[in-house]
Amino acid sequence: MKQPLIVANWKMNGSELLLRDLVRAFEHQGPDLAAQVVLTLPAPFFSLARALLESGEISWGGQNIHWQDEGAFTGEISAPMIAAMGGTHCIVGHSERRQGWAETDQVVASKAQACLRADITPIVCVGERLEERQQDKTMEVVKRQLEAVITNLAPALLEKIVVAYEPVWAIGTGQEATPEMAQEVHSSLKKLLGTQCLQSPPVLYGGSVKADNVAALLAMDDVDGVLVGGASLVTEEFVRLCAYAGEQAKNNSNG
Ligand code: PGA
Repeated sequence: MKQPLIVANWKMNGSELLLRDLVRAFEHQGPDLAAQVVLTLPAPFFSLARALLESGEISWGGQNIHWQDEGAFTGEISAPMIAAMGGTHCIVGHSERRQGWAETDQVVASKAQACLRADITPIVCVGERLEERQQDKTMEVVKRQLEAVITNLAPALLEKIVVAYEPVWAIGTGQEATPEMAQEVHSSLKKLLGTQCLQSPPVLYGGSVKADNVAALLAMDDVDGVLVGGASLVTEEFVRLCAYAGEQAKNNSNG
């Protein structure tokens, strides 16, 4: 059975209390969680994550890094810093960073490379804005964003990344893409990835994912997991979402 990958993106939210609460809830849930869970956290919570998630059953990581490994970049953190603390993943190119911090495709590509140098998994976000979808430019936009990252990656490195398709209009709006819309984009992203490596990296869907819609999304052939913002900040909702995701994976493998 292929385990779905569930990535929580707390953004600039949460607290140590919430992290403790979430970890406790997963412990109660027992060991048969059929999903792989990664919590991407604000940096001030990294040391608590390291302590609480020592067993490695749940992984953790960051939401952004600088593309350099060190230097005079006040306020920034680097991929090797996350790796040194035991973090395993980092989001790069989230649309909030592309828009709010003017991150270009090239910057995102450099950040993905910084993650790979430090041996952590970049979760590379791509996604179209509403007007781009309305102008029928979805595929053009997501392919351009992905190509910028994968063009100069050797196949062995490409297989180490995770891609997340997050339509910008679906983020934080309660208006998720339909499973069919997600499938359509995922399948062309996978075709593109397949031109450069044998084993396509996982492609996640993100944008208003909740416990109630996760199973339908994961029922699609090319949706390998989900990136979850708001619903990852409510312990009961997120634990339920992960449980439903695991059940859907069992259903998928039963045919
Ligand atoms: P959302 O956020 O689940 O709150 O829509 C997803 C994301 O931005 O990664």
